[in-house]
Amino acid sequence: MSLWRKKSINKLLLDAENNTNGLKKTLSAPSLVALGIGAIIGAGLFVRTAAAAGEAAGNAVTISFLISAVGCLFAGLCYAEFASMIPIAGSAYTYAYTTMGELIAWIIGWALVLEYALGAATVSIAWSEYLNNLFNGAIPYQWCHSPFEKITLADHTVVHGLINLPALFILLVLSLLLIRGTSESAKVNAVIVFVKVAIVLVFITIGWKFMNAANHTPYIIPDNAPDVKLPDGSVHHYTDTWQHGWLGILRGAGIVFFAFIGFDAVSTAAQETKNPKRDMPIGILGSLAICTVLYVVFAHVLTGVAPFTDFLKAGKEASISYAIQTYMPGFGWLATLISIAILAGFSSVILVMLLGQSRVFYSMSNDGLLPKAFSELHPKYRTPYKSNLMLFVFVGLFAAFVPGSVAGNLTSIGTLLAFVLVCVGIIILRKKDPDRPRPFRAPMVPLFPILGIIVCGAMIGSLGASTLITALGWMLVGLAVYFLYSRKHSNLHTHHLDEMPPPKENI
Ligand code: ALA
Repeated sequence: MSLWRKKSINKLLLDAENNTNGLKKTLSAPSLVALGIGAIIGAGLFVRTAAAAGEAAGNAVTISFLISAVGCLFAGLCYAEFASMIPIAGSAYTYAYTTMGELIAWIIGWALVLEYALGAATVSIAWSEYLNNLFNGAIPYQWCHSPFEKITLADHTVVHGLINLPALFILLVLSLLLIRGTSESAKVNAVIVFVKVAIVLVFITIGWKFMNAANHTPYIIPDNAPDVKLPDGSVHHYTDTWQHGWLGILRGAGIVFFAFIGFDAVSTAAQETKNPKRDMPIGILGSLAICTVLYVVFAHVLTGVAPFTDFLKAGKEASISYAIQTYMPGFGWLATLISIAILAGFSSVILVMLLGQSRVFYSMSNDGLLPKAFSELHPKYRTPYKSNLMLFVFVGLFAAFVPGSVAGNLTSIGTLLAFVLVCVGIIILRKKDPDRPRPFRAPMVPLFPILGIIVCGAMIGSLGASTLITALGWMLVGLAVYFLYSRKHSNLHTHHLDEMPPPKENI
């Protein structure tokens, strides 16, 4: 049936080989690990850690990071098998098109919009927070918050947000840069990675001395923890089911999962890798391992320096700078330095996300599933400029008018869905095409992919009904677009007689 029509792996590999304009194979394992860390460390660590601790996991946000890392590890092993077997740009979308058919590929592509586009929006909102912090809160509240946010001032007046202008600004600048074709060179990426890892290490080293053991007790939020009054006048109840104990830790895992997003971006560089068979798994799993260790220690120090309940109140925004300014006297300079470094670090994450999104759109448009405008190149710069401009409008709407936590949770859910489907894809491909060479084989299949599905599925479930319903709505819109447009315009539909691969290849 046409919904399950697939792209042939052989044809894909052949196309990539014959592509004379192909990407240069310059990346080795260390540069892949650097690429991964460059894409991974960002708002997840510097904003969502504090949110997860404050909202649901408390000090045990460290355990949330470990749970999240385990889910990523299982999915990462599956990504590594795919990436070494089908070393072609396009990531999960391409893998699905060859294994599970067009409809599932479409669903993954649509979910990846949540990952990349909303991910870019989330990080731009975090960028706005740290910019405002750098200016000592000089940007008026209404111009750097969404209309869904409000704050009660000391004199009891309530201020509502209107639009997040700094977030819109950084998105515009970076979208224009992408149109000009400014790609991150390996050197620039290496500098940014160095800066990001340095901030984390400096905060851990200096912050360690300012940890207060009392802040770490109790480690897991008890079911009778007292309520906290929020800046918008409402009250946060830790007694709610998902806001204390182990379920709180699980929700925390869903929230901090955002911090791991990006390691899968390594797989999009498969075509540019010298020895993808060996280097892909090292790149994916190596960056994951390094970040996990950094994240757990960082979270431990952060919740030791500041009580986690602060992250619901004054420390809700730009939490790291807040913790330093409030609890590490004499280190104001560090807060300023970290804010500047964080702004640079966030910019690189946004750039990678916008780039990733335009690549996915580009692949989908080349396959006929999206209009050709998404793959039209600029006559001078040779970049998909129309796609970049449309993307700016779409991402900008979220960045300007939606709170960071909503965009962040939607990003996590979209990515988790893609992870689940990649795990399913590995199981299917092992059954349907057992003889294809697999330079890297994920261990313990189907057990590990099944565990990946369970852990990532649990994190999806932990993100709360409103996030689930919004994500479901997004997926329904996607299905409508598929059945009304993409299905009929797909290359596999329009050229099916000449171009459909022979049934044997068509796994
Ligand atoms: N992992 C990336 C971040 O935390 C998306 O910003």
